[in-house]
Amino acid sequence: MKGIILAGGAGTRLAPATLAVSKQLLPIGDKPMIYYSLSVLMLAGIQDILIISTPAHLPQFRQLLGDGAQLGLRIDYAPQAEPNGLAEAFVIGAEHIGDDQVTLVLGDNVFHGPAFSELLTNSTRNVRGCVLFGYPVTDPERYGVGETDETGRLVTIEEKPVRPRSNLAITGLYCYDNDVVDIAKNLRPSARGELEITDVNRTYLDRGQAELISLGRGFAWLDTGTPESLLQAGQYVQMLEHRQGVRIACVEEVALRMGFIDAKACHELGVRLAKSSYGQYVMAIAEELAGSR
Ligand code: TTP
Repeated sequence: MKGIILAGGAGTRLAPATLAVSKQLLPIGDKPMIYYSLSVLMLAGIQDILIISTPAHLPQFRQLLGDGAQLGLRIDYAPQAEPNGLAEAFVIGAEHIGDDQVTLVLGDNVFHGPAFSELLTNSTRNVRGCVLFGYPVTDPERYGVGETDETGRLVTIEEKPVRPRSNLAITGLYCYDNDVVDIAKNLRPSARGELEITDVNRTYLDRGQAELISLGRGFAWLDTGTPESLLQAGQYVQMLEHRQGVRIACVEEVALRMGFIDAKACHELGVRLAKSSYGQYVMAIAEELAGSR
């Protein structure tokens, strides 16, 4: 399974904060936004990852994450010249995907919930067709909305419906078999001029090969696209971290727990950040887990 993080876009709703900086590099709590989507792929056990962003912002991502080796990953980078839509990720990423399956996560999505790693590894094992993740919301008319039958098979997808048939918003985490590359290459731009992920998902739906997993109660799926939602996401993360003493989306900790790096390597990553409480946490986790692995 390959991974793609789509971290381009214009971030117009966050201007002027996004005039010089990518939205996905703005902090949520104590770390850059992209750490949250990166940790989702890592928790799914994915180590081969392509980051797609605008030509102007790619160097900043490279400066932040390098080739990924320090986290036991392989990270490559590719430009998206214009925000031509989410499904363009599979055209840009065709070579990276090769003949493998692929999980796409949007760089501005934050997920947090119990046993997420198990859920991800189980649902991304041997994907046939597509696996999408739904989240119950009070305002489904703002999102792509999925309706399932009793077995979890997706029966309808509607984009921003006026009268939604369910309250399950389709989140920015999508797993596909290898057909997605051909499906994306054959898409035509929509009325708003974008290659739409909903059209990809509809193709799988028509084939009877689309599954929607509801993340349900106890899970958090947070939006970060506006100043209010960005601040709220930061407050959520800060509150949980302060209360529980654990960190969400600490990529060094995830790499260690997933067995991508050893405790010594993790500790060294913490030392480089030792003046921040984040760095001190990384060192403490490495020391705590040193005995157990
Ligand atoms: P959006 O939030 O739809 O768009 P945006 O980030 O440009 O923000 P705004 O609406 O304020 O202008 O995008 C969702 C995510 O997908 C976000 O992480 C950016 C990314 N994206 C791309 O990388 N390329 C694209 O072509 C599109 C449409 C989005």
